[in-house]
Amino acid sequence: MPNRPYRIALNGYGRIGRCVLRAFYERNAAFDFEIVALNDLADMASLEYLTRFDSTHGRFPGEVKVEGDCLHINSHCVKVLRHSTPEAVGWRDLGVDLVLECSGAYNTRSEAQRFIDAGAPRVLLSQPMSGAADVDATVVMGINHERLSGAERLVSNASCTTNCGVPLLKLLNDAIGLDYVSITTIHSAMNDQPVIDAYHHDDLRRTRSAFQSVIPVSTGLAKGIERLLPELSGRIQAKAVRVPTVNVSCLDITLQMSRDTDAQTINRILREAAQSGPLEGLLAYTELPHASCDFNHDPHSAIVDGSLTRASGPRLVNLLAWFDNEWGFANRMLDVADHFLRVAHRA
Ligand SMILES: NC(=O)c1ccc[n+]([C@@H]2O[C@H](COP(=O)([O-])OP(=O)(O)OC[C@H]3O[C@@H](n4cnc5c(N)ncnc54)[C@H](OP(=O)(O)O)[C@@H]3O)[C@@H](O)[C@H]2O)c1
Repeated sequence: MPNRPYRIALNGYGRIGRCVLRAFYERNAAFDFEIVALNDLADMASLEYLTRFDSTHGRFPGEVKVEGDCLHINSHCVKVLRHSTPEAVGWRDLGVDLVLECSGAYNTRSEAQRFIDAGAPRVLLSQPMSGAADVDATVVMGINHERLSGAERLVSNASCTTNCGVPLLKLLNDAIGLDYVSITTIHSAMNDQPVIDAYHHDDLRRTRSAFQSVIPVSTGLAKGIERLLPELSGRIQAKAVRVPTVNVSCLDITLQMSRDTDAQTINRILREAAQSGPLEGLLAYTELPHASCDFNHDPHSAIVDGSLTRASGPRLVNLLAWFDNEWGFANRMLDVADHFLRVAHRA
């Protein structure tokens, strides 16, 4: 691997952590950093095995082997640590510029601050935090990443659903105006649900078998969108259901528009934004008769399915946008990390 100026570590090597590492190697040339370490609780044999073989994304497209405390990826050593607290990891000794927190175990400011107090210079979290003040910035790539000054210490990459919804809502609010927004997230199962009924979560419905039901779950999506688009505050509602698929999700979005419009106009605005401008590469547009599995391993934050855009009268619009909740989001973690490090070292 050519010499790269910045060093990154992953904390938590589950679905998102592994997708981040893999997307890094699949997009190898694109970044100014290398991944030098990962910290998870799992044993080395399992870490190696689940890096090599992934039921959702297929075999790792490169060489993976263990030597001592290194997980060698294409002969590059990623040092493996197995500590349950940030205090136990020597972030300073690792010389890392940024920790990508992908365990989901640290969701308040005081929890995330533990990484900084333990010597990590900066943290990018793979989840939205409970309150806006829990981080220095919440970023959706293509929407507000340019507002990062580089002085931030704790940054959130928002959620996969926020990364999907915010670009679409911003485009349509800017072009036409939105009075009210109602969203249903239709989301694949996740590791916070059991395979069969079990005591697994304090959201009671998440104790139910992930693969036997469509399961309504709590969601902070409306709050998350308001954080990014405060101009829509108080006018958004969201709910979420988990469905028995392993990956790829969609947002079903209903919009009350401020001005008269039609489905063709809505589709044109979204299609053109996908073709050029700041959302190119982040937003995609299709009118083909897709099913969700067609978007497995798709790196976009949102893929608008224009064949499903509906207008009921001049101001009530319904849209559907797909996203690979694992792969799209993991790619955004890498994009935001790269941008954050560049501005931090310019600051
Ligand atoms: N999956 C998605 O589609 C998705 C999309 C966007 C954002 N996110 C967010 O990303 C976070 C992780 O989600 P995930 O789906 O990747 O979960 P996951 O598959 O359960 O992975 C989390 C990993 O972190 C490990 N871990 C737990 N506590 C740890 C600690 N204190 N230090 C180091 N490692 C620790 C877990 O080990 P154990 O299994 O032994 O506990 C597990 O290997 C969550 O906040 C989630 O909301 C997920």
